[in-house]
Amino acid sequence: MKKTILVTGAAGFIGFHTSKALLDRGDKVVGIDNLNSYYDPKLKLSRLDILKKYRNFKFYKQNIEDGIKIKEKIDVICHLAAQAGVRYSLENPFEYEKSNMLGTLTIFEFARNNKIKTIIYASSSSVYGNEKKVPFKESQKLDSPISLYAATKKANELYAYVYHHLFGINMTGLRFFTVYGPWGRPDMAIFKFTKNIIENKPIDVYNNGKMKRDFTYIDDVVSGILSSIDKGYAFEIFNLGRGKQEELINFIDEIERNVGNKVKRNLLPLQAGDVLETFADTTKARKLLNYKPKTSINEGIKNFVKWYKEYYQNNF
Ligand SMILES: NC(=O)c1ccc[n+]([C@@H]2O[C@H](COP(=O)([O-])OP(=O)(O)OC[C@H]3O[C@@H](n4cnc5c(N)ncnc54)[C@H](O)[C@@H]3O)[C@@H](O)[C@H]2O)c1
Repeated sequence: MKKTILVTGAAGFIGFHTSKALLDRGDKVVGIDNLNSYYDPKLKLSRLDILKKYRNFKFYKQNIEDGIKIKEKIDVICHLAAQAGVRYSLENPFEYEKSNMLGTLTIFEFARNNKIKTIIYASSSSVYGNEKKVPFKESQKLDSPISLYAATKKANELYAYVYHHLFGINMTGLRFFTVYGPWGRPDMAIFKFTKNIIENKPIDVYNNGKMKRDFTYIDDVVSGILSSIDKGYAFEIFNLGRGKQEELINFIDEIERNVGNKVKRNLLPLQAGDVLETFADTTKARKLLNYKPKTSINEGIKNFVKWYKEYYQNNF
């Protein structure tokens, strides 16, 4: 049966792709976003232009923490709005308190007051902090976040448990692992590397490139989100990674190969708040969500670089 889904952060990277996939399959999407300028709002507006072409899409420009003012009756909430980014949380911690803590609480209260049974919400691989045991499993006990961003995401998982326990709301938390792909975020490494490699400018490589990340392609993540919406489990947390680690340096090599250019690498120390490695154990998501990440780094980077060139050639 077709559902009406409230997607918060609908003009954001993951929110846009999730909304589009839901609209494509015939669900109704009510999108909320405040279109803030943490990164260029023009990119958010371009994503929205695509969503607004669908008749089954309705958009509200709102701050989630100010209360949800919409007319539609909602079946499921997919809560993706947040102040993202680890490094910015050292500069502007209050933005995280506002959007991630108060914002998420406001969404949970909205569900409680409107008898919405199911919430899917974004958590992050950053909740694993500098855990030594890899690959990371959802069952690991976690209480050592190393950034305020990570702490807010972990706190969201705790809030979700409370709202499930007290009010019986179905809660699925998704720990995303470095999601990349077309329409990606300008503050993330792949975007910055691609931009500089195309413009023949040096790139900043932190921890001398000795960082490992479980890079996950956007389409794979979206399939996990849609499956979570459809299953509507009572209370679960899932890793949505690719389940493979990649050295940052290899990722950069691959971008350079795709662009057909090599640039100078400024090797710099590890940045405060950054974790050394991420690596998802995806066994649980494979089993309960039928999640099968299938996009290779080569294919994913190829698609990203292609999108980047087309978008920035046509729009600027
Ligand atoms: N992209 C990743 O690799 C990644 C990894 C782990 C977790 N996440 C989480 O996934 C979610 C989506 O991330 P994304 O990469 O799409 O980020 P994004 O910044 O592109 O999207 C978030 C959107 O939410 C909106 N927003 C922020 N605060 C808001 C508020 N107070 N009220 C209304 N709208 C608000 C922003 O304008 C933005 O469009 C976030 O919760 C993020 O923390 C992302």
